[in-house]
Amino acid sequence: MLGRDRIQYKTPDQVRLMRAAGLIVADALQAVRAALAPGLTTGDLDRVANELIVGRGATPSFLNYGRPPYPATLCVSVNDEVVHGIPGSKVLRAGDVVSVDCGAILAGWHGDSAFTAVVPGDSERDPELAKTDQDLIDTTEESMWRGIAAIVAGERLNAIGVAVEDFVGDRFGLVEDYGGHGIGTEMHQAPHVLNYRTRDRGPKLRAGICLAIEPMLTAGNPDTRVLSDEWTVATVDGGNAAHWEHSVALLEDGLWVLTAHDGGVSKLTELGAPVSSLATSA
Ligand code: MF3
Ligand code: CO
Repeated sequence: MLGRDRIQYKTPDQVRLMRAAGLIVADALQAVRAALAPGLTTGDLDRVANELIVGRGATPSFLNYGRPPYPATLCVSVNDEVVHGIPGSKVLRAGDVVSVDCGAILAGWHGDSAFTAVVPGDSERDPELAKTDQDLIDTTEESMWRGIAAIVAGERLNAIGVAVEDFVGDRFGLVEDYGGHGIGTEMHQAPHVLNYRTRDRGPKLRAGICLAIEPMLTAGNPDTRVLSDEWTVATVDGGNAAHWEHSVALLEDGLWVLTAHDGGVSKLTELGAPVSSLATSA
């Protein structure tokens, strides 16, 4: 089983440290969402997040990551861009579908989270297409929560992919080229988290596992390509895409969504998933 032996299981005290990093990511994304407006560039959004993270004594985890070194604090992926869009001089327009992904390191521990939203304001987009965009965004978010609620001790890792795939059904394209991951003292750890059903059900989930759950959905065909900047992932057919992500800890008594301001309490309760007492006492 891929990665079964390399999973880093965290103690409750280590999860508390990850929560501190997760809250900085949550605050950075909240600040970006509040700033989102037509006429801003994607680089402007990047500065909002960078200043918040650095101001809180944390380090942006995407900056200089990988090869070629990723050049920014955020990934800002617009319309047909799925993930890993590099912020820069691109000007946002009302009605654009914008996915914002953010990671930070505090005291050696990582948080990683993303949301997708429509740029507010008077949009020239066809109302029917605008409705589909919002449905795409909402379905992606809900599929993430279904995946999170499937993180249950004793169940297998692929329960997450089954939950995401079954929720999405044939309503939208489900990107298979990228997925979620373990997270802890590195941004990307074992195991890789697929957003679809496989024959290999994967390792058993147990307390201490921390996972970034991040489904990506498309309005049309889910096939992707990487642009010439060597980072930006876009749909091949040019249809819009959405991406949501949370970093989640499985504890003995339930889940703690480390990058959600409320610890995931409201959504997990709605879905009937157990919430860890750490999420309500912290
Ligand atoms: N949330 C993204 C991921 O988990 C962030 C990676 S962007 C990178 O893959 F630039 F840091 F690679
Ligand atoms: Co991630």
